[in-house]
Amino acid sequence: MTFPAVRLQRYRQTPQIRKILAETFLDVRHLIMPLFIREGIVDKKPIPQLPNIFQQSIQTLLPEVERLANLGISTLLLFGIPLEKLPYPIGAFSKIGIIQQAIRLIKQEFPKMIVIADCCLCEYSADGHCGLYSNGQWMNDQTLELLKKIALSYAEEGVDIIAPSGMMDGMVRAIRQGLDEQGHTMVSIMSYAIKFASNFYGPFREAAGSVDVFKGDRRHHQVAYTQKKESIREALLDIEEGADYLMVKPGLPYLDILSELRSKTLLPLAAYQVSGEYAMIKAAAAAGILDEAAAFEETLIALRRAGADFIITYYADVYSQNIQ
Ligand code: PBG
Repeated sequence: MTFPAVRLQRYRQTPQIRKILAETFLDVRHLIMPLFIREGIVDKKPIPQLPNIFQQSIQTLLPEVERLANLGISTLLLFGIPLEKLPYPIGAFSKIGIIQQAIRLIKQEFPKMIVIADCCLCEYSADGHCGLYSNGQWMNDQTLELLKKIALSYAEEGVDIIAPSGMMDGMVRAIRQGLDEQGHTMVSIMSYAIKFASNFYGPFREAAGSVDVFKGDRRHHQVAYTQKKESIREALLDIEEGADYLMVKPGLPYLDILSELRSKTLLPLAAYQVSGEYAMIKAAAAAGILDEAAAFEETLIALRRAGADFIITYYADVYSQNIQ
């Protein structure tokens, strides 16, 4: 049957009917809030390219986590900014490193908060590379040893989920082995399985303090945005290596990848709405071009519709505030 007997507009007549028919939901439980914690500052520091987002200090961290917890946010993704970026980035796995301290404090005060910690060298190394890099040579396998150390140092402080973001070959296997050997069998791994060499990470690099130090590009380890089959292979390999969660990053320009991956795996999937995506909507809203809340809602729903169980977004707190 078709028109005139069939009229799809019958489904859309009233807000009540539209609501009972809504197929895709977005709830605060689906949202993960990124947090930047910077060593050596006292007050929180604004990040000009990321309006409303701050670098927190170890002193401002707990009040901020309390604010987020009160909004119903259950999951945080931590990034650390050390005092010094060193050629051999020992700050990344030091017992007194900024992230190790942050995990310890959060888990002490808010044991129910789910803490994910980014596991990469780029915030800690003098050259801003995600892996060890020497004489123009990429040292993937040596980097794996370091990633293991970082992951272990997080696990010792009680992290729930380790998120390796450097796109090193074999990183999930190495971290799983490292954790299991030391008895941390219940610590999970969320792999940044498909991380594209994207132009949308700019504001993050400012937030993580890697703009000045990093002169290269990340195309020898991140996936080119021309690559669909290769990107899906990345994810399938991470599943074989033992990933518990997979992430696709950035979000909106990669809905096709998310949707394809959704059909290929039963693992929980996260999408990362990255800094450039956030900044873009904020800028458009500031210029009076878009309704900020409505535009964010639409992008977040689109990510869920494409197959994301979770969304990492700098808008998590404001979204939660709005729905309370
Ligand atoms: C690297 C990392 C990056 C982001 C998260 N982890 C930046 C990069 O690869 O250059 C970007 C996140 C964002 O833009 O919001 N450890």
